[in-house]
Amino acid sequence: MKAVKCEIYGPPEKVVRITEVAIPSPKENEVLIKIHATTVNDYDWSLVRGKPYIYRIFFGLFKPKHTLGMELSGTVAALGAKATKFNIGDAVMGDTSNYGFGSFAEYISINEKAVVQKPQALSFEEAAAIPHASCLALQALRDLGKIKEDQKVLINGGGGGVGTIGLQIAKLYNCEVTGVDSQEKVATMTSLGFDHVLDYKKVNFTKAGDRYDLILDCKTNKASLSYLKALNPTGRYVSIGGKPFNLIGLLLWGKLVPLFSSKRLKILALKSNIGLDYICDLLAQQKIQCQIDGPYPLEDAGRLIQYFGEGKHKGKIVISIKT
Ligand SMILES: NC(=O)c1ccc[n+]([C@@H]2O[C@H](COP(=O)([O-])OP(=O)(O)OC[C@H]3O[C@@H](n4cnc5c(N)ncnc54)[C@H](OP(=O)(O)O)[C@@H]3O)[C@@H](O)[C@H]2O)c1
Repeated sequence: MKAVKCEIYGPPEKVVRITEVAIPSPKENEVLIKIHATTVNDYDWSLVRGKPYIYRIFFGLFKPKHTLGMELSGTVAALGAKATKFNIGDAVMGDTSNYGFGSFAEYISINEKAVVQKPQALSFEEAAAIPHASCLALQALRDLGKIKEDQKVLINGGGGGVGTIGLQIAKLYNCEVTGVDSQEKVATMTSLGFDHVLDYKKVNFTKAGDRYDLILDCKTNKASLSYLKALNPTGRYVSIGGKPFNLIGLLLWGKLVPLFSSKRLKILALKSNIGLDYICDLLAQQKIQCQIDGPYPLEDAGRLIQYFGEGKHKGKIVISIKT
């Protein structure tokens, strides 16, 4: 089968290549999945370059130990001896990151818990495009952020994969939503439904004087205590990721702030596929939509990771795998 490999760190278009490898046999609790679609994520961009350097503690100090690709949709092609969740031929989807990676390939053998049944209403491309970003958005807003009707919400990095789904979830709660992103995305974000859009190069939302009930931050790049200034008295700030140094500060201040304030600073640790059934229902009922950039062929993987890193994509970059 064809699989995308990256054996040294470097620029995606130079170090990512297609190889021929054997189809993996499923171990006891695994299923073999014939992959129909996968997507490009922040994980792939970081893994290929080994940056930020601190990530090499997990990725491999001198060369990448992990494989590329975390989201997929496909069909179950074989079952491990103790796999009971699916039948051969079932259509499945999921964010596999809690169980391993490797979805830039024609087949993957992975723990059966890494995927869920794909609803018929969704195409394979849609099913691959939603598990990671939508679960990040849902778990951040609903589970950690405790979002309520009619709140004032700010999404930093609002024009990205998580932000655009986050906006749609917040709108289900009739919230007034401000998005922060680059000037180039203002028109698109306004047309998507953001009530206000701020250009992060011109406005520092923590100093602008407005206060929010809930902040979802996809970029965490400011000092932890500065976020308190942008929160209402019982407001909650939830980070899903950002600069490692700022995240460490947030982890510490998140424990200390409740000692002197009713505001909260939280960091989300994603639980893959939790809430995905709810998101699938919303999509099937057309209450939310996912934006797809592509689909593109597997052979373009290196170029697509570079394209992702340059921030030129509009929506989720989907790779369609045809055999
Ligand atoms: N918590 C967890 O367990 C977990 C697990 C996996 C991933 N993550 C995190 O999830 C995040 C991925 O979010 P995503 O998929 O929405 O990313 P994305 O699609 O890359 O979107 C990020 C958006 O932020 C914009 N942006 C860049 N710099 C900014 C700044 N200084 N201020 C405001 N906006 C800025 C980007 O614009 P440009 O395109 O113009 O740069 C882009 O539109 C990453 O931080 C990743 O580390 C978290």
